[in-house]
Order: sequence, then structure tokens, then C-alpha cells
Amino acid sequence: MLRRGAIQPAKGHMRNTIGTIGIIGAGQMGSGIAHVCSLAGFDVLLADVAEERIRSSLATINGNMARQVASEKITESDREAALSRLTPAPQMEALAAADLVIESVTEDEEVKRGIFADIRPVLKPEAILASNTSSLSITRLASVTAKPEHFIGIHFMNPVPVMELVEVIRGIATNEDTFEAAREFVARLGKTIVVAEDFPGFIVNRILLPMINEAIYTLHEGVGTVDAIDTAMRLGAHHPMGPLQLADFIGLDTCLSIMQVLYEGLADSKYRPCPLLVKYVEAGWLGRKAGRGFYDYSGDTPVPTR
Ligand code: CAA
Repeated sequence: MLRRGAIQPAKGHMRNTIGTIGIIGAGQMGSGIAHVCSLAGFDVLLADVAEERIRSSLATINGNMARQVASEKITESDREAALSRLTPAPQMEALAAADLVIESVTEDEEVKRGIFADIRPVLKPEAILASNTSSLSITRLASVTAKPEHFIGIHFMNPVPVMELVEVIRGIATNEDTFEAAREFVARLGKTIVVAEDFPGFIVNRILLPMINEAIYTLHEGVGTVDAIDTAMRLGAHHPMGPLQLADFIGLDTCLSIMQVLYEGLADSKYRPCPLLVKYVEAGWLGRKAGRGFYDYSGDTPVPTR
């Protein structure tokens, strides 16, 4: 799937094979990406400003791999081999060995731009820098790096070990070698690639987040309770999770920042973030990771809050 007008690279002109992956950000998504990369045989360097987060990420990965062993998705020796390929990288300099670095920090453009400006000089010249951003412009993020041609969007879905899809997004300057290397990388993970153009929200979030936002309006306007809305969409539209449950799962801060990117980037009032979503984020009720969102997660089973 080449971009219109792009020239197919000649055979034998492929870039060096990717062996080592650097991941910046050991949160929910970074942990999932580290999980699938190490299982696929890549060496993984896991970086985060908070060393504690790296430790807790490694514990999460260990636990999730144990679940996969229990359900016979992988063997115990796959798990041990994968865990041995994961190395904490609390200092950015350790990422110098990486062939591909995937940034997976919070959806804050300033934070991401700062990281890209700092990390590029550390990397090998041929190394690829990628962002797992769920909606920000790849072209704009690439523009702060010295090598925008080696920059690309590689967007994973949550939970990464379970979801089959990866969106790949070229910035205007991304070269064909970088795109092909990203495509090969996704194939080695055993995931399906979808190529999206560099527009706000790409494909999945352009469609998914307005649906979630509408569910929050439906709650805000009193059309239904949390339980009614989620049950309606689980049983009435066969979604594996209701939209409010999914919002909590994604993180309400991430949902809000994606809606803001759609609203501002597409300049259309139909993407206006629901005021109730804004209020929840202001309250720190960010969903599952905060213990409270549209559900309260303090007990054994989540309890609807409205
Ligand atoms: N790591 C490894 N395995 C995991 C896992 C994880 N983090 N989470 C779940 N699993 C496995 C479980 O072990 C289980 O495996 P078995 O069937 O072999 O036992 C399987 O997944 C199903 O899990 P559960 O039985 O616990 O629960 P479930 O049947 O309710 O499924 C779910 C959970 C897969 C998350 C499902 O509810 C689902 O698909 N939800 C929708 C998720 C979704 O839409 N994600 C996209 C979000 S949008 C996004 O990510 C983009 C963005 O930028 C915001």
C-alpha cells in the first residue's frame, strides 16, 4: 500500500533489519508495546523518566504474559525468553543502541516535541523514530527532529497484546525506506497494518472517539444511565465493551485530548468535547487507571457512578 505517486523501492535496497526497539514511556501503551515486541523476538529497551514506572511496567508485562501462558497462547519458555529480552533504560543515552524508537508518552504535544528534540541526537543516524500518538500530526511532530524522513506514526490499540491492528501514518517528509521498515516491523509482530493519512485522529480514533463522546452526551442529557448506555451498545451493537466502559479503559484524559485534536484540527463543532467529559477530567476521574471514571473501581466489580 504505497502512497499515491510514491516509487516502490528496488529490491535489495531495504534498510538494515530492525533488531532492537527502544520504547519511551512505560505506561499502559508502552508496556503493551514492549510486551509484543519482546515476544516477537526483538530486544527491547524500556525508558521512562520515572524508574518506578519501568519497574511496575515490567511487573505488568510479566503478569500479562503469565495470563497468556495460562490460556496456552504462549509457552513458559516463550515467556522466559521474552522477559530476558526486556531491559530497563532509565537514561535516554541507553537508547543509542535502538534501530527503532517508539515514543509512547502522554498525549501532550509539548512533552512529545521535547522528547523528540532530545532523543534524535542520541540515536544512530539510520535509526527510525516513531510516535504512538493517537491523534497528533505526524508531520508536525517530525518537524522538530533533525531527520523528519526517518520519522513515522506507528499507532497501537489497547490492549496491545490482544488487538490485531496497528495504524501506520506517514508524515509529509517520511521516506519510503522508513515506511517499508515500519511495515516489516508490524508484520513481524503478527499484527495487521492499516495505512492512514496524516489527518487528526487518523482512522480508528476519528470514528471511535466521536462515538464515545456521543455516549457521554447521552449520559449528560439524561437519555440513559451508565449501565443503560453500555448495555445498549454491548447487546444492541455487539461491541465487546460499552462506550463508557471503553472510555474509562482508554483513559478520560486521553479521550478528551483526542476530541480536542479533532475539534481544533478539523474545525467542526460536531467534534465539541462533551462538557461532562471535561468535568470528569478536571476532577481527576480519569477512568480505570485513576480508580474512578464512569465506573468506580475500588471494589471487586466496577460500579456505575451515574
Ligand atoms: N495482555 C494479555 N492478554 C490480555 C490482556 C492484556 N493486557 N487483556 C486481556 N487479555 C486476554 C485475556 O487473557 C483473555 O485471553 P483468553 O481468551 O485466552 O482467556 C482475552 O484477552 C479476553 O480477556 P478477558 O476474558 O479478560 O475479557 P474480555 O473477553 O472482556 O476481553 C478485551 C477484554 C479484549 C479488552 C475486550 O473487552 C475488548 O476487545 N474491548 C474493546 C477494546 C478496544 O476497543 N480497544 C481499542 C481502544 S482504542 C485504542 O486503543 C486507540 C486509541 O488511541 C485510544
